[in-house]
Order: sequence, then C-alpha cells, then structure tokens
Amino acid sequence: MNIMVIGGGGREHAIIQKLKEDPRAEKIYALPGNGGMAGDAECVSIAATDIPGIVEFAKSHAVNFAVVAPDDPLVLGAVDALNEAGIPCFGPRKNAAIIEGSKAFAKNLMKKYGIPTAAYEVFDQLDEALAYVAACPLPTVVKADGLALGKGVLICETREAAREAVLSMMESRRFGESGTRVVIEEFLTGPEVSVLAFTDGEAVVPMTSSMDHKRALDGDKGLNTGGMGTVAPNPCYTAGMAERCMEEIFLPTIRAMKTEGRPFQGCLYFGLMLTANGPKVIEYNCRFGDPETQVVLPLLESSLLEVMLAVAEGRLAETEVRFSGKASCCVIMASRGYPEHYEKGFAITLPETGENERIYIAGAAQKDGQLVTNGGRVLGAVAVAESLPAAVQGAYALADKIHFDNAYCRRDIGRRALEAMGGTN
Ligand code: AMP
Ligand code: GLY
Repeated sequence: MNIMVIGGGGREHAIIQKLKEDPRAEKIYALPGNGGMAGDAECVSIAATDIPGIVEFAKSHAVNFAVVAPDDPLVLGAVDALNEAGIPCFGPRKNAAIIEGSKAFAKNLMKKYGIPTAAYEVFDQLDEALAYVAACPLPTVVKADGLALGKGVLICETREAAREAVLSMMESRRFGESGTRVVIEEFLTGPEVSVLAFTDGEAVVPMTSSMDHKRALDGDKGLNTGGMGTVAPNPCYTAGMAERCMEEIFLPTIRAMKTEGRPFQGCLYFGLMLTANGPKVIEYNCRFGDPETQVVLPLLESSLLEVMLAVAEGRLAETEVRFSGKASCCVIMASRGYPEHYEKGFAITLPETGENERIYIAGAAQKDGQLVTNGGRVLGAVAVAESLPAAVQGAYALADKIHFDNAYCRRDIGRRALEAMGGTN
C-alpha cells in the first residue's frame, strides 16, 4: 500500500514508525514531514493545510490510504476532500472535527447529552461577557472558541484578570478570529488524564491512558507549551475510573455525535479532569495528542495500520486492539527559550537506540547532510519498560545521550505520576 501521513511533528514520526511495522505498508509519504523522518518516510514539501495540494499529490502518487494527524487540516475538511477524490482516510470529517474546532459546539453537545464537564456560558457579545465576569465565581477560565494552538485558555484568579482575558480575546483579538466568541467556565481541580480512543463512529476503544506536562519549566511553572513530556499509563486513572469514563463519557460522546449526524471516525482525544465530583471533560481533540502519541503507540502490540483501516471501514468492533501493559515515558528536548524566542540551526547528534528506546523527531531539518534543530520542540526521547519508574529513568538516560547546542528539557517528567503511585523516585 502507498500511505500518506499529513503532518510533520513528533506525533507523526511515531505514527509513521508504527505504521511501518505492518508489511503491507510499502511506501509512506509524509506531507510535509521533517528532516528527522527521512529514514522512515519520503518527505514531500506540501503544507498540512494545503488541501488541494494534498489531494493532487494523493491522486498522482496512487495513495491508497491517508492519515490526517493535525487539527487544522481536519477542521478545514481535508478528510472530506480526500474521500471525495476516492481516497480512504483515518481521521474525522469536517462536521465531526468541529468537536475540537469549536469549544462552544463541544460544550453545547455535552450539555445536551448530559456528559459531565465544567459549568459554562458562551458569549458572542463583549458587553455580556464583561458583565458576566464582573460577578462570576473566581478563579474562572476564559477560552477562545476556535483553534488557538492550545494557547487560547486563560485561567483567571482575579476579576481584573478575567476582564483582561475577555478584552484580549474579543476586542484585541489576541487569538485572531478564534476569539470572536468566548466560552467562560467553572474552574475545576483534580488530576488530569489524557485518553486517546479509536472510534469508527459506533465502537470506541480507549488506548492506554497518559499524562501530559504542559508547562515549560520544572514544577509545572512557566508558560504553557505544546507539551514537554508524557508518561503512560497515568496512575491516577484506575480500572474503576476507566469503566466509569466509558459509561459516562466515551460512549455517550460517540452516540451523541452519531445522533447529531456527525459520526466521528478516527482518534478522539478526551482531556479529562478527575474531580471530587467525578470525571469531567476539560476538552476534546479530534486527533492524536502530541506528545501523548509518543508514549501510547510504542505500547500498541496490534498493527496500527490494521486498526486504522478498521476505523475507516467501520469494523472496529471486530478488530483486535491490544496494548502491552508496559509503561513508557517521553522527555521532550526543546530549544532553550521555547515557547518564546529560540535559535535554530544547531547540529544534533543522536545515539544508537536499543529495542526499548525511540527518538521521535519533531523540529529538525537536514542541512548539508547533517540533522539540525529547526523548531521549539526538537525531539522526544522515549523509553518503554516494565514499570513507570524504569521508563522514566530510561527516557532520561536516552535524553542524556542526545546532544545539540541550547538543548533544554524538564527534569521532572513523570514525577507527579510516581508520587501518585506512592513511588520511590
Ligand atoms: P485546553 O487547551 O482546553 O486543554 O486547556 C489547557 C489547560 O488549561 C488544561 O490542560 C487544564 O490544565 C487547564 N484548564 C482548562 N479548562 C479548565 C477548567 N475548567 N478548570 C481548570 N483548569 C482548566
Ligand atoms: N498534548 C495535548 C494536545 O495534543 O493537544
């Protein structure tokens, strides 16, 4: 088969390496991919959002199957366009990707179908939003409705901060058109869990749970980032909690989308908070998380290609999706200064990897035959082990063998998880 993967980060590198394990995957194209994937896929410099370019490439290169990984092409309708051109895809159509594309849509869906989430109000008018934050309980959470690269969420401790947040989104358009409408919601507390799930619109199969580390600095300090590291499984997510989430959240969401005439096929990401009043949805994403994918897919024992084909063909219920029961940890190595200003172009040296180690490249390019840094998050160092403490140790041991100038990583990925286990590290 000729397979095309849309996207170019560490998540896509992990997807490509897993797809390659299936002997049916003869040729894999990455659009655009990145310089660090060159050994695993043929990178083609077509942007992930260039939908006509993607369709044209697929037709002219006899692509049999496409995996659309990032949020923006999904929300723009890449799957619809590819399907219309006769190319089967893994990923939701535009009318289902809206579950991530509009927070107001997601919140209204949850309210209508009784899916637990933070209490909220949606505002299109600036004066109404300002009147609301003048009296609402604090802290409060102000969110831009549309996609904002994970940055359109402001947690406000004071009334002044809430007012500023509303003004920055609705008046100054800090997040562009994403902030024309805002969602203002109740502040929740509790451990956060990421659960990625395969679904073909009928059956839903959750993958091993994980925990992201979104802040730039140790101790969950500093700015929000795309994710500085992950561990799987998430020790806060017990078997009992998994059962409860299936009944109260996962199945109701899949059924709700179907009832609304928006069946979701692909990977649905549930960002959950385990509050004192039970599990609640913080956000849905219409795709694999990054860097959750980098810890979850190495634990998948079944063929990813087979599972993705089953999702696209609506036969997930009859397909085996088996995870190893091991643990994994991903430490993101970033350019110092990320997520703000950083330099690029430094040579990267990579060690040989062992059977239980992976290096997924995110922000790198080839220059004169040398791999060089080319982004904020440069790569993920991943280790798989029998236990979470061993996986964390293994990921740091691997990271310590990777070198480039101005490299930065958090030193405490997994610490909270190990504490939750009553761990010894
Ligand atoms: P999101 O982009 O929706 O994932 O939000 C980013 C982060 O903001 C989440 O991972 C949470 O840590 C935090 N957050 C979002 N909504 C809430 C909420 N209602 N209460 C508390 N924290 C929240
Ligand atoms: N790691 C969070 C996300 O992919 O949005």
